[in-house]
Amino acid sequence: MSTDPWDQRFAGPDYVYGQAPNALVAEMARHLPANAQVLLPGDGEGRNAVHLAAAGHHVLSVDRSAVGLEKARRLAAMRKLSIRTEQADLATWAWPRQSFDAVFAIFLHLPSAIRARVHAGMVDCLKPGGLLVLEAFRPEQLALSSGGPKDMDLLYSAAALRDDFSGLRRVLVQEVETVLDEGPLHQGRAALVRVVARKD
Ligand SMILES: C[S@@+](CC[C@H](N)C(=O)[O-])C[C@H]1O[C@@H](n2cnc3c(N)ncnc32)[C@H](O)[C@@H]1O
Repeated sequence: MSTDPWDQRFAGPDYVYGQAPNALVAEMARHLPANAQVLLPGDGEGRNAVHLAAAGHHVLSVDRSAVGLEKARRLAAMRKLSIRTEQADLATWAWPRQSFDAVFAIFLHLPSAIRARVHAGMVDCLKPGGLLVLEAFRPEQLALSSGGPKDMDLLYSAAALRDDFSGLRRVLVQEVETVLDEGPLHQGRAALVRVVARKD
C-alpha cells in the first residue's frame, strides 16, 4: 500500500471529487480551439481530462498519484475515450516549452516553496495564444468545511496568483464564494479564487 497521501485518498472505488467536470472547466472548455492540446497538472482521478477528451481534445494528465491516474484511465476507458497520463512530481517535472493550447490547474494546492516555480512551468508550456485556467481554495476556506487543505501555506490568495501569472494577459483573477457539489469531498459553501489568462 502506497504511503502517498493522495494515493490513500484515491484508494477507494468512489471518485472523491465526482466523475463530472469542475464547473469552471466545463465553462472554459467552450473557448478551446478544435482538437486542442491540453495539459491537466494535478488531475487526480481524471474527471476534467475525460470531459475534455470527450470534446475531442488531446489531453495529458500529470499527477504524482499513480492510484489517481489509474482511475483516470479507467474513467476514460468506461467512456471509450483515450487520455495520456504521466506520473510525476510537478516540482521536478520537465515542462515541455510552448506545447499546449491550454492548461487547466484545478485544486492543485502546492506549498509556497514551489508554487511560483510550478506556475512558471505552466506559463512556459503554453503556446502563444494559449489559455490558463486555475481554480483553488483561498485562505477564507479555513473557516468552511467543504474541502481543501487545512494548511494556510497551501491556500492561494488572488495577490499571489496575480504575481505568479504576471507574464500572462489576465482576463480574470476573481475571488468567488460558491457552493460546491463535486463528489463526496467537495460539498457545500466554498471560498475560491479563479484565474483565467492568455499568453500573448
Ligand atoms: C484536490 S486534488 C484535485 C484533483 C483534480 N484536479 C480535480 O479537481 O478533481 C489535487 C491533486 O493534485 C495532485 N498533486 C498535489 N501535489 C502534486 C505535485 N507536487 N505533483 C503532482 N501532482 C500533485 C494530487 O495527487 C491530487 O491528485
